[in-house]
Amino acid sequence: MLASNTLSSSLAKMIDFEKYPINAKGSSAYDQLLQSVKATINEKGTVSLPNFLTAEGTKLLQQTVIDKTPEANRTRRFNNVYDMKEIPEDIPEDHALRVVLESSYSSLGRSQLRETFIEELYTCPFIKDFAADVLDIPQLYFHDDSYNACVVMMYQPGDKIDWHFDYGQFVCLINVQEIEDGGFHECVTDIRTEDDNGYEAVGKVLKGDRSQVHQSRSSPGAFTIFKGRYSLHRVAEVTGTETRKSLVMTYEDKEGVVLTDEVRERYFYTVADDPQT
Ligand SMILES: [Fe+2]
Repeated sequence: MLASNTLSSSLAKMIDFEKYPINAKGSSAYDQLLQSVKATINEKGTVSLPNFLTAEGTKLLQQTVIDKTPEANRTRRFNNVYDMKEIPEDIPEDHALRVVLESSYSSLGRSQLRETFIEELYTCPFIKDFAADVLDIPQLYFHDDSYNACVVMMYQPGDKIDWHFDYGQFVCLINVQEIEDGGFHECVTDIRTEDDNGYEAVGKVLKGDRSQVHQSRSSPGAFTIFKGRYSLHRVAEVTGTETRKSLVMTYEDKEGVVLTDEVRERYFYTVADDPQT
């Protein structure tokens, strides 16, 4: 059943294809997995497959990140939930658009990860094609951005990504290193739509309303698909002493997608000063 002859020998050992037969499209095992994953993502906006990587795969991923960490870039940025820079003057003072949030983290981008196990994971056709099937997208393409296509995100104590929406419809994540203190993934599912920014509901969350917030963690080696364009989400502040690490892999429904230079610079290469001080 396994098509391991079409994979590099390392990848065949690093992904648990017995548990998750994403390489066996057309089989009943594939269909079964697909149906259960689709049901979950349609209900919750996210789905997580624990132990997607084998123990050996998880260890190799962790070691790859450790080896590359000295090259990581540091980011500190300030923006509102909608990443909107020019706020119209007639927007009231207590509006969600006026809430400035801080995010800080370190990262490694695709250009720094070539010829590593992470590049093999990102370019694994079974992952990309399975994600397409889960999301009912006929064909997914690799993101063309030299940095953002696959990024290792690292949150040291005190780091976080505050409330935001993603630019893309979805991301694929593989958890590298989970932690004991803080750093939860927090999400309010489908709080906005394509036509309605949901300012009022978002404003409530920003003021501390936790009633709709779903908090989660996933274990190292877990594979997650998350639809983040309409779901408000954040990585809560990391406390304790450990660093939270995850691999974010971006695929697109058309070819040739890249970030603008301004967004790439601000998201990955800039340590900004607090605009309120
Ligand atoms: Fe996000």
